[in-house]
Amino acid sequence: MVDPVLTVENLAIDYEVGAGRFHALSDVSLDILPGQVVGIVGETGCGKSTLAQAIPRLLPEPPARVLGGRVVFRGVDLLAVPRWKMPLVRGTGISMVFQEPLNSLNPAFRIYDQLAESIRIRSLREQGLAPAFRPDRSDPFDYSRAPMPPAGGSMGRVLVPGGAAAQAARRSRTAPYRAEVLEYLRLVRINDPETILNLYPHELSGGMRQRVMIAMALSEKPSLLIADEPTSALDVTIQAQVLTLMKELIDEVHTSILFISHDLGVIAETADLLGVMYAGRLAEFGPVADVFGAPRHPYTKALLRAAPTRYKSEGNLDSIPGSVPNLSRPPLGCRFHPRCPLAQPVCAADPPPPWDTQTAPGAVAPHRSACHFADRVGELP
Ligand SMILES: Nc1ncnc2c1ncn2[C@@H]1O[C@H](COP(=O)(O)OP(=O)(O)OP(=O)(O)O)[C@@H](O)[C@H]1O
Ligand code: SF4
Ligand SMILES: [Mg+2]
Repeated sequence: MVDPVLTVENLAIDYEVGAGRFHALSDVSLDILPGQVVGIVGETGCGKSTLAQAIPRLLPEPPARVLGGRVVFRGVDLLAVPRWKMPLVRGTGISMVFQEPLNSLNPAFRIYDQLAESIRIRSLREQGLAPAFRPDRSDPFDYSRAPMPPAGGSMGRVLVPGGAAAQAARRSRTAPYRAEVLEYLRLVRINDPETILNLYPHELSGGMRQRVMIAMALSEKPSLLIADEPTSALDVTIQAQVLTLMKELIDEVHTSILFISHDLGVIAETADLLGVMYAGRLAEFGPVADVFGAPRHPYTKALLRAAPTRYKSEGNLDSIPGSVPNLSRPPLGCRFHPRCPLAQPVCAADPPPPWDTQTAPGAVAPHRSACHFADRVGELP
């Protein structure tokens, strides 16, 4: 039995806004094994980004408040890690690609500086010359052998100021890490890497910036890459190009990936497992072919019916009858019951048991559904 890279267990998170509380995540549990790609889908506001940011502890607290649960990354419960040590986890084990790369790239530094610094820090950590997250040790946060890193950005990267000497080094063919920087830019299919490395983020198109962000994330050699709708800020043709790149890279880099996307087609082609979220809960989780082929939750069934397909482009996820509940007062019992064609009185009274599980012979993971009537979902049109 292989140990999961990540186990999320009964994670519950509220946002406290004024006198109100939004129950953004309730009882969310999932595992990601080494090399697995786990897709997460669900309507807007169902808690996908909250989950993506809660894992590397990037949620601002307040307004976010972790009510309970565990986030175990390579054997270490990240929720028990002091916040000031989290940049080490983010720089050494978990990397992220977000919707808007401009928020993550530093506008004051050229692409070379940012990528080279990321590679430099990683290489120092590999040599034991900079503090690193090493879960195989008795103290996974051993600072004793190396000085503290200077204060870095939220991603755990630290930038060197680009003085005259640094600029000369950048232009020189012998600039440190130049070969590796070029290699990463080529990995993300940037055709003219020699030019790109001298540009500032604002001089790049949105699609190019996202490619650079993906290169930065991969240059940290993460065990887990979290991509939260990495293309939704781009226009449609560029989205398709970046998604094609993501698909190709998934086959090349063998890292575990949590991939949040509105695009069910992309998830179908890239993910091994699929989690379907509804109103802050995971409604269904299992091997992607099983969830798509034989959904065991009425919400998944509705989502698949509403999704645009190659032959039917007019669908959209919000065309499911009814509306997403207000998470400050979610429905009692099953949160989907006001919209569910299979609902019975028990659904409004009792939350479904956490998981009704089926495991197909030879399946990579069980197929789990949080529904009182999971076995009747096949009857729905
Ligand atoms: N900083 C915040 N303060 C208060 N409420 C928040 C905050 N961030 C998110 N929420 C609320 O938490 C719920 C979950 O939001 P989240 O961004 O995780 O959803 P999402 O599934 O990522 O949506 P989308 O598909 O639009 O990106 C929503 O109801 C949202 O309004
Ligand atoms: S528990 Fe009831 S309301 Fe909820 S999805 Fe299942 S059948 Fe529908
Ligand atoms: Mg989101």
